Amino acid sequence: MLRGGRHCLSSFFSGSGRRHQSHGLHYPKLYQNTHELQQRDNRKVLEFYQSALSREIAKSEGSQVLDIGCGSGDTTHKTLRPLMVDDFGCRRIVATDISTSMLDYARGAYPHRAISYDVFDVSSADSAQELVSRYGHFEFVFSFYTLHWVRDLAGALANVRRVMLPQGQPSECLLSFLALNPALLVYRILGKDSRWAKYVESTTIPFGEIYTQESLQQMAESCDLKLRSCEVLSMEFGHASLEKLRDSAVAVCPIHRTIPAEQRNDFEKDLVKSYLEISGGSEIFNYQIAVLHARSD
Ligand SMILES: C[S@@+](CC[C@H](N)C(=O)[O-])C[C@H]1O[C@@H](n2cnc3c(N)ncnc32)[C@H](O)[C@@H]1O
Repeated sequence: MLRGGRHCLSSFFSGSGRRHQSHGLHYPKLYQNTHELQQRDNRKVLEFYQSALSREIAKSEGSQVLDIGCGSGDTTHKTLRPLMVDDFGCRRIVATDISTSMLDYARGAYPHRAISYDVFDVSSADSAQELVSRYGHFEFVFSFYTLHWVRDLAGALANVRRVMLPQGQPSECLLSFLALNPALLVYRILGKDSRWAKYVESTTIPFGEIYTQESLQQMAESCDLKLRSCEVLSMEFGHASLEKLRDSAVAVCPIHRTIPAEQRNDFEKDLVKSYLEISGGSEIFNYQIAVLHARSD
């Protein structure tokens, strides 16, 4: 577990004066076929935290669930729905993402009467306001493997609070995301290569920070989220082959699409090489996830 303050590495990625915008994923099928690590961690988090979630809140009439950054929709449909709709009895899940290509895939792959798919940008207060005006506030808010894509995490947590029930009415959120993302170092390596530097520099790659328990606690409290727990967990994952490592790295690579088709092969080789460089040649990677469980009351 990391100790100490917040280590800001965002200066490496954030060119001065550059407009910071949110990125979404654009390779839904590739993500769906390669997200074994995310799937495994999401299942573990929900398995562990399900007994900490409030069945009382779920009993309130018409209770609804928000999933922020649903991606290919697999976790929403296969992990969240059985727990929150079938077991807890919530009326519906609104599965959201900033990327319409991810939403289109999820809608097609996992249609269900209790799941509505819609666009939502967690980094935007206006988007939070629009979501609430369409659906009302949410009794439960979940987000898996998404909040590390957002540059202003405190702003995103404030938006999570905005879509939960107003003061004094019970609602809760469970947010799981990368606290230490190995990709941070990978893009630092790639940014030193003259062939890739301009792509790394020209995009606002939203992996800037390493979050500690202390920094997350402060952020959550400043957004009026009443923390039940806040953990930073050290994790390990082994890719079965270099091809799997390459495909899963490409699926979540924010600059892959911007690289000319004729150079992508070389880029993918360097992407894998950089991942191996940071892991000392091993296909096993160490990373950290943060899990925040909070209530509105
Ligand atoms: C790695 S995927 C996680 C998908 C799914 N939750 C899972 O765990 O498998 C991250 C998702 O977050 C979405 N995303 C990125 N920035 C976002 C934002 N500002 N608001 C909402 N979704 C965002 C991406 O488009 C992508 O689909």
